[in-house]
Amino acid sequence: DAAALVLGIETSCDETACAVLDGAGVVRAELVASQIADHAPFGGVVPEIAARAHLAALGPMVASVLRTAGVRAADVSAVAATVGPGLIGGLIIGGGFAKGMALATGADFYAINHLEAHALTARLPGLSAVPPAFPYVLLLVSGGHTALIAVEGVGRYRQLGTTLDDAAGEAFDKVAKLLGLAYPGGPALELLAAEGDAARFALPRPMLGRSGCDFSFSGLKTAVAQLVAARPAGALDREDAAAIAASFQAAVVATMADRLAHALAMMPSASGVVVAGGVAANQAIRTGLRAVAARTGHALFAPPLRLCTDNATMVAWAAIERARAGLGPDALATPCRPRWP
Ligand code: KG4
Ligand code: ZN
Repeated sequence: DAAALVLGIETSCDETACAVLDGAGVVRAELVASQIADHAPFGGVVPEIAARAHLAALGPMVASVLRTAGVRAADVSAVAATVGPGLIGGLIIGGGFAKGMALATGADFYAINHLEAHALTARLPGLSAVPPAFPYVLLLVSGGHTALIAVEGVGRYRQLGTTLDDAAGEAFDKVAKLLGLAYPGGPALELLAAEGDAARFALPRPMLGRSGCDFSFSGLKTAVAQLVAARPAGALDREDAAAIAASFQAAVVATMADRLAHALAMMPSASGVVVAGGVAANQAIRTGLRAVAARTGHALFAPPLRLCTDNATMVAWAAIERARAGLGPDALATPCRPRWP
C-alpha cells in the first residue's frame, strides 16, 4: 500500500546505492555512488577496496536519502538489501546494515537477489504505459552477467541461456582496453564505434546459428587482440581503432539479436522482451534487439539508463513485488550468497 515505505540497499559490486519507495512503487528518493574512480587504476573492481568504500559510503547515504524523502528511519516499514549474487564483502556490509536497521526500527527485512531485482525493474509503475506482464523474456547484459531468462512470475525464473565464458560488459571492457580506452570502456567504445567503418574488418560472430541461447565472447575478444597485435607497435591510429570498435560492436549486436530470436522461439507465450544491465545502455544493441522483437511482434522494454545499471530502486521494488506475491519478509538469519543462480 502507498502508506508503506521501503528502503532499498545495493552493495553487491562497485555501486553503493539506496532508495526510498512508497508501497505503490513511487520513488521518493534515490542515490547512487559509483566507485569507478577507486578501481580505475587497477583496471577492474578490487573486492576489498569495494567493501571498504561501501562501508564508508552507506551510512551517510542512507541518512541522506531518508532526509531527501522526508522520512524518519522509524517510519520505514521494510528494509530490503541485495544479499547475492555479488562480492561477499559488499554483500555483508549492505545486508548487515539492513538487518541492523530492521532490528532497531521493527521494520521487515527483505533479502533480495540482485538478478531478480534486475529482472523485475521494468515493471516499476510509470516506466511504460503498460508494464510488461508475465511471462516475458529478459536479456540481462552487464559487467558480471549475460543471460536470457524466462521470467514467468515473481520468484519464478528459468534460465534459457548464459555466457560460456566472458560476460558481455567484460568483453566490451577488455576490447576497449586493447584499443587504449580507459576502464570501464563500454561507453567509450560505443562512442568510438560511431565514427568507424564496421565493414573494414570481418570479425567472427560467436554462436551465430547455433541452437539454444548461450553466448560466447572470448573468441571475438581474441580475434580483436590478434587484429591489434598484427599492427606494428604504435601503428593503430584512430581510424583503425574506430573501425575495430565498430566491427566488434556489430558482431556483438548480431550475436545478441540471434540469441534473442532463439529465446523467443523457445518461449512462444512471451508477452514481450525486457533488457537490463549496463550494456543495455548501448544504442546499437537496443536498436538490434528492437528489430528482433518487432519482427516477432513483441514489444521491447528498456528501462531508463539509471535503472539499467546497478541501483537500489530495483532492490526496493523487488521487495514490493515479493511482498505482494506473499514471498517474504525474510529471517534476520538469512545468509549472504556470493553465488546465487
Ligand atoms: O550493470 P552495470 O552497471 O554493472 C554490473 O556489471 O553489474 O554494467 C557495467 C558494464 C560495464 O562492463 C560497462 O562497460 C558496460 O556495462 N557498459 C556498456 C555501455 N555502458 C556501460 N557497454 C557497451 N555500451 C555501453 N554504452
Ligand atoms: Zn547488476
